[in-house]
Amino acid sequence: MGHDDRFGPGADPLASLLGSKSSRRSLLKGGIGLAAALMSPGRLLASSAVAGPLPGSTADRIVVADGYGYDVIIRWGDALFSDAEALDAAAVARGSLLAMAAAIAERQFGYNNDAVHFFPLEGSSSRGIVCVNHEYTNEELFLRGLVRIETADPRQMADYVRRHPGVVPLTQAMHGISVFVIERDPRGRWKHVVGTPYARRITGSSPCEISGPARGHPLLRTAADRSGTRVLGTLNNCAGGQTPWGTYLTAEENVDYYFGNGAALARADASVRQAHRRLPPRSASIHGWEHVDARFDLGREPTELLRFGWIVEIDPYDPTARPKKRTALGRCKHEGAATAMTRDGRLAVYTGDDDRFEYLYKFVTAERVHPTDRAANRDLLDRGVLYVTRFDSDGSGRWLPLVQGQGPLIAANGFATQADVVLRAREAADLLGATPMDRPEDVAPDAATGRVYVALTNNKDRAAAATRGEYNGRELDFGPNAANPRGPNPYGHVIEIEEAGGDCGAETFSWGLFLAGGESAAPSPFGSPDNLALDRAGNLWIVTDGAQPGGFNNGCYVVPTRGPERGRIRQVMSAPRGAEVCGCSFTPDGSTLLLSIQHPGEGGSLAAPTSQWPDGRGRVPRPSLIALELPQPGDRG
Ligand code: FEO
Ligand code: CA
Ligand code: CA
Repeated sequence: MGHDDRFGPGADPLASLLGSKSSRRSLLKGGIGLAAALMSPGRLLASSAVAGPLPGSTADRIVVADGYGYDVIIRWGDALFSDAEALDAAAVARGSLLAMAAAIAERQFGYNNDAVHFFPLEGSSSRGIVCVNHEYTNEELFLRGLVRIETADPRQMADYVRRHPGVVPLTQAMHGISVFVIERDPRGRWKHVVGTPYARRITGSSPCEISGPARGHPLLRTAADRSGTRVLGTLNNCAGGQTPWGTYLTAEENVDYYFGNGAALARADASVRQAHRRLPPRSASIHGWEHVDARFDLGREPTELLRFGWIVEIDPYDPTARPKKRTALGRCKHEGAATAMTRDGRLAVYTGDDDRFEYLYKFVTAERVHPTDRAANRDLLDRGVLYVTRFDSDGSGRWLPLVQGQGPLIAANGFATQADVVLRAREAADLLGATPMDRPEDVAPDAATGRVYVALTNNKDRAAAATRGEYNGRELDFGPNAANPRGPNPYGHVIEIEEAGGDCGAETFSWGLFLAGGESAAPSPFGSPDNLALDRAGNLWIVTDGAQPGGFNNGCYVVPTRGPERGRIRQVMSAPRGAEVCGCSFTPDGSTLLLSIQHPGEGGSLAAPTSQWPDGRGRVPRPSLIALELPQPGDRG
């Protein structure tokens, strides 16, 4: 089967995609050069890229393929404002961070940068505002005496924060979003411009507004906010997106990691317990905040966690505008919020729920995007239809509307209002028969063609054969389905959706498996696809977070989606040790791919570091934003 073959009705996607290595290799032999396949009026990768894929690396540095270059734009702790204090990475390596005030951290670039999106200033591709998420903190990499907190006994962090309560506001200040200006200097290198009027930090305690159908709902009210309309902070901001009217969308993902004492919910109202059922709270948080800050203790504030897990819209051009949690897009572990215009001028927002056996969603606005009046689009994301996907085994699929009053989403089933539906989006999607996926991460939609790529990162719990059982409080078949054919799925896969009529507003689609991670992905084996971006020539850029075949570091890959080289994936960048690569968005001219190097050194500790990137010996590793320069026409690596 050639690369342009799609998995039509009746085809067995598993057999087609995961066919024997040898037959796949023989098909791939004799392919033409990458540059020819990538040629387009807009963009040509240099012939140097034809030289071959970058081999996997385990080095503690960034390695790029011939013809590529990169700049480190900003590192964790760099000052965002002219009067801000910068982090001393050597002092932190000696154990000094605890002495730093939260007020200093909230004037610096935060930790574990993830999504990055570029907002041009005066239409420029060389100077613009970037919004960057700070997903979480690896306390063990900058505080003394800790082992990896995500996998350790939570008593470790509980004990630590009780002895050092200042670490809670400090790490809260390292979360959230950074907004700042970047530009190319006269030599063409990207740099951060300190202290422009756009510079802003939003943290885990900045005031945000709740909007949309769940605004003011009793389940969103707390002692501090009896109106259910205002919440402090946005947390675990993973991937994101940007709207055509120039706002940033940031996705709250693993929000349960910050809340503890879930057992106390047994005493809460039935409605509160029901709201938590499909995103179950933990008995102890990962970060220990509940021991210092009461709002993270579910025994004290049983609904505070429900105020997280949303898509949040931020206006980067107005530093005084409050972030708004757009509840119409549903509550879950949102990976990102990738946008595309529909044929009739509305906006579609694709969002994965990154958990094992969770779903892929799409929101389509009720009204059209106003092409010139920015203010007219201000609350467009508050009204529209939220859908969830069902992938059928015949290669077709359907976006199922999560609309109160339709199908089973009625009062008799506990969905009396649309607020109930968005607050319990996972449970509503269960009732509609959505397809449980292998951790849906980022989505890359192409509005021009209606083709949509979806990263399914991996799923160690997918069973090899049909197996019914209970999973996180829900009855489920753990076995393979057509869209998630491997059990277990250690390296993930990428699905290609073709929206009906090429319209991202469609309610039906056809689909096929586009790529499978693992040994068979030639010529560059890859695993755990996380974030995606499409360029104008139809190449899909993929960055990874997780297990790689061969045990190599995470990296950045590119794969043509059309032409004779379709499906032939090549690595172009390898990350430092312990890091994932995320972000993955282009400047408007397509010349630069903005990437986040998140958690370098993860797996190590302050006492036993496994990475010292980017500053080198005697320094703590620092999550950083980089600009990957793509080969330009005429370049010769
Ligand atoms: Fe934050 Fe799903 O990665
Ligand atoms: Ca991610
Ligand atoms: Ca990730």
